[in-house]
Amino acid sequence: MLHVKEFNEKHPIAEAKNLKVAYGDKVIHENASFHINEAEIYGFLGGSGSGKTTLMKTLIYLKEPDRGTVTMLGKDIWSLKLKDREKIKLQTGFMFQFGALFSSMSVLDNIGVMLREYSNLSKKDVEDISMFWLLKVGLKKEAANLFPSELSGGMKKRAALARALVLSPKILFLDEPNSGLDPVSARAMDRLIVDLRDSLGLTVAMVTHDADSIFSILDRFLIVNDKKIVFEGNLEEVKDFKENPLQELFDSRKMKD
Ligand SMILES: Nc1ncnc2c1ncn2[C@@H]1O[C@H](COP(=O)(O)OP(=O)(O)OP(=O)(O)O)[C@@H](O)[C@H]1O
Ligand SMILES: [Mg+2]
Repeated sequence: MLHVKEFNEKHPIAEAKNLKVAYGDKVIHENASFHINEAEIYGFLGGSGSGKTTLMKTLIYLKEPDRGTVTMLGKDIWSLKLKDREKIKLQTGFMFQFGALFSSMSVLDNIGVMLREYSNLSKKDVEDISMFWLLKVGLKKEAANLFPSELSGGMKKRAALARALVLSPKILFLDEPNSGLDPVSARAMDRLIVDLRDSLGLTVAMVTHDADSIFSILDRFLIVNDKKIVFEGNLEEVKDFKENPLQELFDSRKMKD
């Protein structure tokens, strides 16, 4: 059992400094700095279109910043050579909001995609490892041979999560893991995320609009508004943040307590 809490607040596993990020002339972030600590569950919060996904993409090699540095696992990732870049990429898992599974493949084959691509493991080993992750995300053994069209929304998300975990990444990025799920499945997904962190020491960075997730599972988070990161900290600290653009979202949850 890992004593995960000992790692918290101590070692940044990912750090962005002074990022400017634009699509052509359209500047999305002017000067973004933040850090994600090892083994914490970190949130990217902000209104729709505020640039949460864009920020996350700078950490997983999908969007190069116009300025600034991104350090992941101790490496300045955007200055790495291709070979070293691959090494970092393989230690990073990600699941997109609409992270579709391959419809022509069974769940087990979907989960094993990265192993088939990046390892020399035998077919049997690939199947065994894929099965481990299938069970780890809470799917039943019988789901292995189903096709994506035969799965519920919650099961699809779990299968996509298993696919993102199959290379045992150190850090996992999730873009709105609860979107489209009913409240019961959404809470089950939250519990799974916490379990992955607690049992594996995994760092999780996630975009979310879900007030229940914010209050129940995030250790720290940032809030983006109007091209700036206006807050970075935890729930205790956000209470003192008077100009919170998401105040309504925070109040809506408080009223439920
Ligand atoms: N590939 C792209 N090319 C041009 N503009 C883009 C591209 N991707 C995103 N944008 C724009 O950048 C801005 C930020 O988008 P982003 O997807 O990062 O926001 P978001 O905070 O994740 O929003 P949502 O909550 O709706 O998912 C939006 O105005 C969007 O239209
Ligand atoms: Mg988004």
